Amino acid sequence: MKALVYKRFGSPDVLEWSDGWPQPDIGTNDVLVKFAAGSVNPKDILLRKGKFGLLAREPLPRVTGHDIAGVVVEHGAGVNGLNPGDAVYGMSPLMHGGIISEYALLTGDTVARAPKNLSHAEAAAVPLAALTALQALRDLGHVSAGSRVLINGATGGVGHFAVQIAKALGARVTGTCSAKNLEFLTELGADEAVDYKLCPAPRIKQSFDVVFDVFGKYSAGDFKASLGRQGIYINTIPSGPRTLLGEGLARLGGGRRNRLVIVQSRRTDMVTLRGWIEAGQLKPHLDKVVAIENAAEAHRHVETKHTRGKVVIALDAP
Ligand SMILES: NC(=O)c1ccc[n+]([C@@H]2O[C@H](COP(=O)([O-])OP(=O)(O)OC[C@H]3O[C@@H](n4cnc5c(N)ncnc54)[C@H](OP(=O)(O)O)[C@@H]3O)[C@@H](O)[C@H]2O)c1
Repeated sequence: MKALVYKRFGSPDVLEWSDGWPQPDIGTNDVLVKFAAGSVNPKDILLRKGKFGLLAREPLPRVTGHDIAGVVVEHGAGVNGLNPGDAVYGMSPLMHGGIISEYALLTGDTVARAPKNLSHAEAAAVPLAALTALQALRDLGHVSAGSRVLINGATGGVGHFAVQIAKALGARVTGTCSAKNLEFLTELGADEAVDYKLCPAPRIKQSFDVVFDVFGKYSAGDFKASLGRQGIYINTIPSGPRTLLGEGLARLGGGRRNRLVIVQSRRTDMVTLRGWIEAGQLKPHLDKVVAIENAAEAHRHVETKHTRGKVVIALDAP
């Protein structure tokens, strides 16, 4: 079968939609999905550049990608709730992704029926980014009705879902983005949109219960004034030893105010997201849909760090 592979680390040009990759064998708990679309996440870029080192040991050549939407071809006897022909979306739990190929193998607990009101391209935009936003805000931030939430980097993949999810959870949301995205951020539902060039997130003079630093530029200490004694800071990247230490302590039960989200692929959470999407409370925004043969263009766009919503790679893109 064909797969989107790279045989060496490097620039987006190392990506090849090439034939001759072995079709995966299905195990009892697996689902085989015929690929229709996938999305690009910053992690795919770092992996392609060889940045994760020992954490991504899988030898080259390697199949790229964590997000997929498509149609179930077959599943193992241990998988319930899915049938051949179902439109699904899912996220690979593997460190290196390994999923953008004509036929992708996922375990049954990492794939769910796709929202009925989304195209394959739209569904592919959801899993990794929206799961990150959901797990950060709900599980680490304990966001609920009336919470005051600041989202730094609120119009990219994770951020644009985070704004909508925080609103769905009943929060009051302040978001940051560049000037060109202020209107988009308001359309997403943010109560207040702040240009980070005019006022960087730590200088916003308000009190927050949760700061979700999606862009990952800061650390908990930068928000002492706005988070007070009870507020929770959540980062997406281990930008300093304190973030890792804070997360380690939180996991051992020693405080919950300095957190690092590490996204988990979970069918139950994809069902939650589907509920909001079908109810019209959550919608992926597609910045670009690129044909799979031009996957390098999709990676190049995400590398700019100025994606609005998500970039998708699709089989049937023009
Ligand atoms: N730990 C995890 O499990 C996990 C999961 C998912 C993602 N991540 C990480 O989270 C980060 C964001 O991911 P993503 O998918 O949302 O990326 P993305 O789609 O590339 O988002 C980029 C966003 O960042 C904003 N931005 C650029 N420069 C900024 C600045 N100086 N200050 C504030 N915002 C700025 C951009 O807004 P403008 O265009 O308006 O500038 C754009 O909306 C990445 O580092 C990614 O690796 C971690």
